[in-house]
Amino acid sequence: MGRSIVATTFEDDRQRARQRLPRQLFEFIDGGSFGEETLAANRNDFARVHLRQRVLMDVGNAVLDTEIFGERFALPLGLSPVGLAGLMRRRGEAQAVRAATAAGVPFVLSTVSLCGIEEVAAAAARPFWFQLYFLRDRDYVAKMIGRAQQAGCTALVMTVDVPVNSPRHRDAQTGMGGVPSALARAKVVADFSRRWPWLRDVAVGGRPHIFGNLAAAIPDARGLADFRSFTRANWDNAIGWKDVAWVRDQWDGPLVIKGILDPQDAAAAVAAGANGIVVSNHGGRQLDGVASSISMLPAIANAVGGRAEIFLDGGVRNAIDVLRARALGAKACFVGRPWVLALAADGEAGVARMIERFRIEMISALGLMGLNDVADVGAEALAHVPPEWSRGEAAAAPPPARRVATIAGE
Ligand SMILES: Cc1cc2nc3c(=O)[nH]c(=O)nc-3n(C[C@H](O)[C@H](O)[C@H](O)COP(=O)(O)O)c2cc1C
Repeated sequence: MGRSIVATTFEDDRQRARQRLPRQLFEFIDGGSFGEETLAANRNDFARVHLRQRVLMDVGNAVLDTEIFGERFALPLGLSPVGLAGLMRRRGEAQAVRAATAAGVPFVLSTVSLCGIEEVAAAAARPFWFQLYFLRDRDYVAKMIGRAQQAGCTALVMTVDVPVNSPRHRDAQTGMGGVPSALARAKVVADFSRRWPWLRDVAVGGRPHIFGNLAAAIPDARGLADFRSFTRANWDNAIGWKDVAWVRDQWDGPLVIKGILDPQDAAAAVAAGANGIVVSNHGGRQLDGVASSISMLPAIANAVGGRAEIFLDGGVRNAIDVLRARALGAKACFVGRPWVLALAADGEAGVARMIERFRIEMISALGLMGLNDVADVGAEALAHVPPEWSRGEAAAAPPPARRVATIAGE
């Protein structure tokens, strides 16, 4: 595809990002874990939820704003935490937070971002949320929570679905996370050296070698490899519900647990003091063979019973998906790949355009559903949902018909 592509859909942004990024980085974003079945299911299962088309309902005054934790946002949509986003564009997280906060949607900054909390706070037009990964060094974790509080973050998102790493075959193929041989290394270097626009933007002067939130823990780090070894050595696999209680004590504000895919865990999160949960399988990047996020939503909403806010991510690609999730019990959806691919494609403007696309789509879809206010999208907006979903049996459903290739370059 040529330069004249107008990025109006997720796929447009994806193709533009693919052209611009070194292959290693594109596949890191695009891929999932193991055989990528859950990655495909996240997407395919949305098509199993049918909305109702209602007519002659006096529409045309769409109201999209949504209150979350006492704050009004322009849309029931937010940007999920994505690690290493600053590798995709120069100071990428700062660019993305500018777009998100200007558009009035929540932005969640990853622990493993290139821009640190303070840099992102300086770029943001309004407060953002901070995502916490757990390290063995509790003092350092407490310090990061303190930095988020100091920077005015309005919610803390604790991600719990990465107790261990999962095999990502595309990353192994492209050398993301270490190259096995001199020949493989030469191939990676050759690919990077061809990506001139990316090199000029990120590699030259973009300080792509520092993880802003972890820099204080490893002051003499010389590059990403040092940060990687540090996180590998300090990752806390032994994390349990007692640690959620510890975080609850440290953080004075809304606490969101991200990576819930089971009704029992959802109930436990509420009992541990979470104010919100993100129904998520990490975008199909952790345990493969688990159910899609959308298929687990009805049973989880049932288990939570209105005691906490429910958010969803995984496979959300347009406003129709957001409305489907709202009708099944989510307050708002978050997107990961859509924003980071838009960022890679066109920087801040790309992220702004992606959010605007969701806004325009949502106005249109609401009207076609015979509604004016997104707050009115509930169970009665649905024509069909697979009946097994509400009983929490989604995991027992047959696997998706289409398997995604595990090897890059499909
Ligand atoms: C490249 C990439 C990096 C990610 N890094 C993080 C992270 O640092 N912390 C986290 O909680 N989730 C991370 N996630 C998961 C996202 O927050 C989110 O759950 C997922 O991308 C949603 O699925 P989607 O990409 O289909 O929208 C990452 C996802 C991607 C694609």
